[in-house]
Amino acid sequence: CNNKRITKSFKEINEIYKAVKLTTTSFKFIFSNISKFSYPYQIINFFKFICGNYGQLKMAYKPICTSGSDNSILHSNNYTKKLQNNQLILLDIGCKFNNYCSDITRTFPINGRFNKSQREIYNIVLEANIYCINNSKINTIWNELSNKCFIIIYEGLLKLDIVKKVSDLYKKIDLGKLFMKHSLGHNIGIDVHDVCSILVLKENMVITIEPGIYFSDEQCLNKNVNKSVWKKYKNIGGIRIEDVILI
Ligand code: GLY
Ligand code: MN
Ligand code: MN
Repeated sequence: CNNKRITKSFKEINEIYKAVKLTTTSFKFIFSNISKFSYPYQIINFFKFICGNYGQLKMAYKPICTSGSDNSILHSNNYTKKLQNNQLILLDIGCKFNNYCSDITRTFPINGRFNKSQREIYNIVLEANIYCINNSKINTIWNELSNKCFIIIYEGLLKLDIVKKVSDLYKKIDLGKLFMKHSLGHNIGIDVHDVCSILVLKENMVITIEPGIYFSDEQCLNKNVNKSVWKKYKNIGGIRIEDVILI
């Protein structure tokens, strides 16, 4: 593990900031033009077009743009499924700026309005995202923060009656993990998944915070999942909210 790359210099932070800024600017253009898109590849091409206007032609990684039930496919590269009204788009995309990466995910309704069940799940993910960002501080132990994220997901699903009450802490974490099958985040820099696993947060680290909830069939086999309620949410597919933060 290359220690020099765990924390970033002022110059590096500045380049990542510019990559993030350009990515969020492009997201805003996409949101205000959303009604014009019928396919994911059109959204991605539009993103590339905007970044190109700012002189940045490199993507940080292969973008993910899915809709509806496909949102549960974590690394889908299928860009040709027609977008359908009433579904959520999951867009995970980032440009490079002078070789430094950004990595942002937004999940949003194609028609501009969340329905009730979409909003309920979105709010759980948002709560986890905000909690984890607010508690990402110098000396935070990453594993503890990750477990807290899984517990927030579990508690949110419990309130909606999607999962059953369990008292053991590790069972709560496991149920959270059943719906969020990836880590809370990673270092970011020259590589989108930059060197070293995160252990303890240090000043001038740049990391992602990316909680999510995804619905997949095998959840039904778990005795702590309420199948009849779960069925009502399943078609949402998945929701992730990902941000890049500086410690
Ligand atoms: N886009 C890859 C990731 O979020 O880790
Ligand atoms: Mn990421
Ligand atoms: Mn991402």
